[in-house]
Order: sequence, then C-alpha cells, then structure tokens
Amino acid sequence: MWALKIACIGAGYVGGPTMAMIAYKCPDIEVTVVDINEARISAWKSDILPIYEPGLDHIVKAARDRGNLQFSSDVTKHVAAADIIFVSVNTPTKVQGVGAGKAADLTYWEKAARMIATVSTTSKIVVEKSTVLRRNCRDPSIHFEILSNPEFLAEGTAIADLESPDRVLIGGKETVSGRRADVQQVGHAIGTDSRIGHKFLNASVGFGGSCFQKDILNLVYICETVGLQQVADYWHSVVHINNYQKQRFVGRIIEAMFNTISGKIVTVLGFAFKKDTGDTRETPAIDVCKGLLNDNAQLHIHDPKVSEAQIRQDLATSPFQWDHPGTVANCKAAERDSIRVFDNAVDACKDSHAIVVLTEWKEFAKYDYTAIWDTMVKPAFIFDGRNVLDHDHLRSLGFIVYALGKPLDPFIQRIYS
Ligand code: UDX
Ligand code: ADP
Repeated sequence: MWALKIACIGAGYVGGPTMAMIAYKCPDIEVTVVDINEARISAWKSDILPIYEPGLDHIVKAARDRGNLQFSSDVTKHVAAADIIFVSVNTPTKVQGVGAGKAADLTYWEKAARMIATVSTTSKIVVEKSTVLRRNCRDPSIHFEILSNPEFLAEGTAIADLESPDRVLIGGKETVSGRRADVQQVGHAIGTDSRIGHKFLNASVGFGGSCFQKDILNLVYICETVGLQQVADYWHSVVHINNYQKQRFVGRIIEAMFNTISGKIVTVLGFAFKKDTGDTRETPAIDVCKGLLNDNAQLHIHDPKVSEAQIRQDLATSPFQWDHPGTVANCKAAERDSIRVFDNAVDACKDSHAIVVLTEWKEFAKYDYTAIWDTMVKPAFIFDGRNVLDHDHLRSLGFIVYALGKPLDPFIQRIYS
C-alpha cells in the first residue's frame, strides 16, 4: 500500500525531527523510526515528546495521526522491511583507547551497519557511508547503495531548517572525478550557509551542543592521523579557547564578588546549550556551574525546558561520558546539597547574591527585575553570559552588571584599578 518504506535507526535529535518532516511532507511514504532505547520510543509515541523543538509537536502528531509515521523498538523487523534506511545513531567521542578524547567512537555505527547486513533479505539504499556493510552480508545478490546526506539542521530551529534548508548535500560512491576535491567547490558549498555572517557572531559564555566540540575533536584526530599536525593544532586551539572562555567567565564572577563566592547563592538562569531546546549536551552551563561549585557557591538553577533530574545528572557526569549509555553519574554529597533547581525564575533569584545568565532564552529579558532586585542580597550582581538583558535598565535599578565584550561596570572597574 505504501509507495516506499523508510526506516531510520536512531530516534534522537536528528532522526526524530528529520523523519517526522519526511512523513509530514510525503503522505504516501511509510516512515518508521526505530531505537533500542524503549523509553525514548514510548515517549515519541506519547503526548510528551522526548525532545523539545519549536513546531515539532504539530508535525509529529499530524503525521502520527495520519498513520505514516511510527516509532518502534522492533529494530530488525522495520529495517528488514524498509527500502531506504537512514542511520542516525550516536557517534560519541572515545573515552579510552586509541584517539581517546578526540576520535569518534564508531561502536554504535558499526553495530547498526552489521545489523542491517544481517537482517536484510532485499536490496536497500542506506543513507550514510559505511564500509562494513557489504562484507557482512551473506547473500551477494543483495545490493546496498550507500549515500551520504549530512544534516545541517540546528537544534532550536530544526523544523524551519528542514522546511527551507539553504543547502542539501547528497553524496554517492567515490568517483575518479570526485576525488579531485576542488577547494573552490568546497568554498561554494560552505558559503551557501546563511549563518556565515551576522546571524552567527554573537558573543557567548562558550559554544556547546553535541556536535561542535565532538566534530572539531574528530577533525583534530583525522588531521593528526594524516600527518597534518599544524592543522590539527589550529582546530584544537578552538576547543582550548572555548574551555578558557568558560573558566574566564567563572573567574570574572569570583573576582567581581570580592574574590569569594563561598556560601553565596548564585542563581543560574538557563542550562540548555542554547535557547529553544531542552538539550544540555556539552552545554557551557555544566563547566560554569562546576566552576562555581568548586568555589563553594550555592546554586539556584532554572531553565524553562530542562528537568531537575537532567541538571543533576549533567553536573555529576564526567566530560565525554554523557553519550556512553550505562554511565553512572557520581556527584559528591556536598555538591548535591549545594544545588537547588527551581521551576520559577523569580523564586530562584530570591536571597541570591548574583544572577548568571547562561542561555539566551527570550523570556529572561522580560522579567520584572525591579521585583527581583528587592528580593536579592546587596550589592546584587548580574553576569550576562549571552548579552540578552537590558544592561542600562538593570544598572538604573541598582544592579552591578557584567556583560560580555562590553565596557566594564564602573563598580567592577574599580576592583581592577
Ligand atoms: C550545529 C550546526 O550549526 C548544524 O549545522 C549541524 O548540523 C549540527 O551542529 P547545533 O549544535 O544545534 O547545530 O547548534 P548551533 O546553533 O550551531 O550552536 C552551537 C553553539 O554555539 C551553541 O551553544 C550556541 O549557543 C553557540 N553560539 C552560536 C554562539 O555562542 N554564538 C553564535 O552566534 C551562535
Ligand atoms: P543525535 O543528536 O545525533 O540524533 P542521539 O544520541 O540523540 O544523537 O540519538 C541517537 C540514538 O540512536 C539514541 O537514541 C540511541 O539509543 C540510538 N541507537 C544507537 N545505536 C543503535 C542501534 N544499533 N539500533 C537502534 N538505535 C540505536
């Protein structure tokens, strides 16, 4: 009855929205998203989806109701039945062994590829590239056409990016002509990204997200393995400076607050790695909060879309471990007691010495800061790690404000002079 069947392995931030959009736009294609994580699959089938993304609810529910978008943990059944298989499993940074801390861990990828080869009884198009497929299939008449289709959707704007992408890349098998990488073509492809320009040059406390750091580190590793040490060093410095930016921000907070935050309540507004998502993978908030805890601050944390359980787990997990299932979070009891998570930002600010903004949620600019100021310990500080607040207004209320890349507040300047 269906014109075509698609299965997508991996019901995460990439697989979920991408497949929902394909199903929504193509009513005669049956799309099934499969995942070994049964809790995640149940959530995709429920009213409360496992990820927050503006516009996603409508698209998923419409396609689900129509019947051509389904979610299942019966991975092999749907992979066997599909004509096209998308692979969007996680590729974390390796935590041990060769290339630890840099190279991509392809364990999940390889497992998925071997499974496709084992369960397939008909020829298929596999969207991604893998060299393990053909060698593991027992029936030589079964053909795997392997395509690569890198995703450019950014979280928080995934639906808009899928609806009107400014570029789509699809690659096939290596050809002789394809091997001549022409740098001008590469430049052209990159230049079609409309974010290269004013849309993407906002100063922040540091970049985060599951992709950027991981992909840069993997690039470092690849450069090293092909002998391009200078290029590897260049890219590695991007990660180093990003880490430095987070430490520097913590340092600024401590210095401005009379060189001690011990026992002081610091309210953190925003924990997600950017606005319009509940995703906390590699969020700069983790390092900033750990830095503040390390100097014995008491943290009040509020994020509109991140749960208390997620925040506590993130603050108890070591770097790179989050993407490795089965990792046990381990938080020192003293730190656990130093963290309080609030549903409401105004309550979170009460009795605190400072507000630290770590995510650029629009609603943070709309709060009644006069009322908030009244409930805080004086002098009341605001450290705006995303430059989203009205700093002149806050200063007129009496706040001491630190903003990124802007002249220092006269109060903080006096400390440095
Ligand atoms: C990224 C790529 O943009 C996307 O094309 C790719 O497909 C997946 O990885 P994403 O991780 O969702 O997308 O986030 P992105 O919007 O690129 O932001 C990454 C980090 O940089 C965030 O923490 C964000 O807050 C920060 N950022 C971004 C800034 O600090 N300033 C900016 O101007 C833009
Ligand atoms: P991304 O942000 O790239 O989408 P996620 O971690 O959100 O990454 O999603 C990847 C998903 O892939 C996870 O839900 C994980 O359980 C799933 N996954 C990993 N390996 C397999 C596999 N062999 N079969 C099915 N699902 C898998």
